[in-house]
Amino acid sequence: MQSKFLILLVVLFFTGCAVHHQQEDIVGTDFDFASRQLQIAVSEVEKAKQNETPDKVSPRTIESEGCLHLVPSRDWTSGFFPGTLWYMYEYTDNNQWKELAKKYTASIEPEKMNGNTHDMGFKMYCSFGNGYRLTKDQNYRDILLQSAKTLITRFKPKAGIIRSWDHNTDKWQCPVIIDNMMNLELLFWAFNETQDSVYYHIAVSHAKKTIENHFRQDYSSYHVIDYDTITGEVLKKNTHQGYAHESAWARGQAWGMYGFTMCYRETGDPVFLEQAQAITDFIFTHKNMPADLIPYWDFDAPEIPDEPRDVSAATVIASALYELSLYDTLNAGKYRQWADTILTNLSRDYLSPLGENKGFLLLHSTGSKPMNSEVDVPLSYADYYFLEALLRKQKLKSGK
Ligand code: GLY
Repeated sequence: MQSKFLILLVVLFFTGCAVHHQQEDIVGTDFDFASRQLQIAVSEVEKAKQNETPDKVSPRTIESEGCLHLVPSRDWTSGFFPGTLWYMYEYTDNNQWKELAKKYTASIEPEKMNGNTHDMGFKMYCSFGNGYRLTKDQNYRDILLQSAKTLITRFKPKAGIIRSWDHNTDKWQCPVIIDNMMNLELLFWAFNETQDSVYYHIAVSHAKKTIENHFRQDYSSYHVIDYDTITGEVLKKNTHQGYAHESAWARGQAWGMYGFTMCYRETGDPVFLEQAQAITDFIFTHKNMPADLIPYWDFDAPEIPDEPRDVSAATVIASALYELSLYDTLNAGKYRQWADTILTNLSRDYLSPLGENKGFLLLHSTGSKPMNSEVDVPLSYADYYFLEALLRKQKLKSGK
């Protein structure tokens, strides 16, 4: 009996050590997994490209029939796969990842002239932006500056915002979506590079108008605000990808939280910090936030807990939390704890089995539930912000 008890104690000790070790080195373990999984992704992409038109350049998700969904450079998600490869290079310092990142980044250069969308930041900053940060390639700098120049052609001075979508003109005159906060980082970068204040003023104007018009009293956000570009008035407040106009679409809350944290970094204006903090409070005090901190696709989805999760919202939130913790020393511990919990739970319960899912890293994201599109699937942007969050965690630990 006594020896059985002893064996149990030894087993418990070593299991405890293993769990502790896993938590300690979550960054290393996840990057090791990512390295193996992304090698598969690259070969799957190259294979899929052979049956596609040459304009299909980046993976976005897996279709219901199990095929890899490749997108052309104009798709808003085209920059995430190259960005993911740049993060692999950043972590490993291995030139193989650099060469792959360069190759996939080059495919989306034509977007620098595409003025038909606000998604320039997603596409170009995640790809060329990371590439420039890590290599200082002057060609990348030129491409990014042209991209910023093209993006500001969408600014509407009377309303003080950058127009998001050009589609659904029967529904909206000048729609601005909360996601657009993410594209401002490219403009702040262009200001820092050139000292041309036009980029700064447009970004700040857009962010301030977003605070004014996108948020409800509880700091949850609408998805789409429709503006009258002649008078600058707000015409409609809608939520296109969420459950209802008055609901809180999870990824929209994540974009806002990340976007205002970044605006505070770039401006030092406390208004942006307060906004990021208030959105964070909304998210983490919400009664429908699950215990594992991986949100349902909409905080007000009617069948919670029987609703799909959105892992992409969780990865954006985790990445934003690590940055926010740098600017709010009072709440830093709490923010890092939440982010760590998200990463631990993603790593334990949401990773793809090695070798499966065309090399995607994470399962269980939701693109657009109302359109019945990309529900409970891997998504390239979930993977991108996952690696970004892991790198941010590592940098915080090493004090860099
Ligand atoms: N930016 C589009 C989305 O979050 O689905």
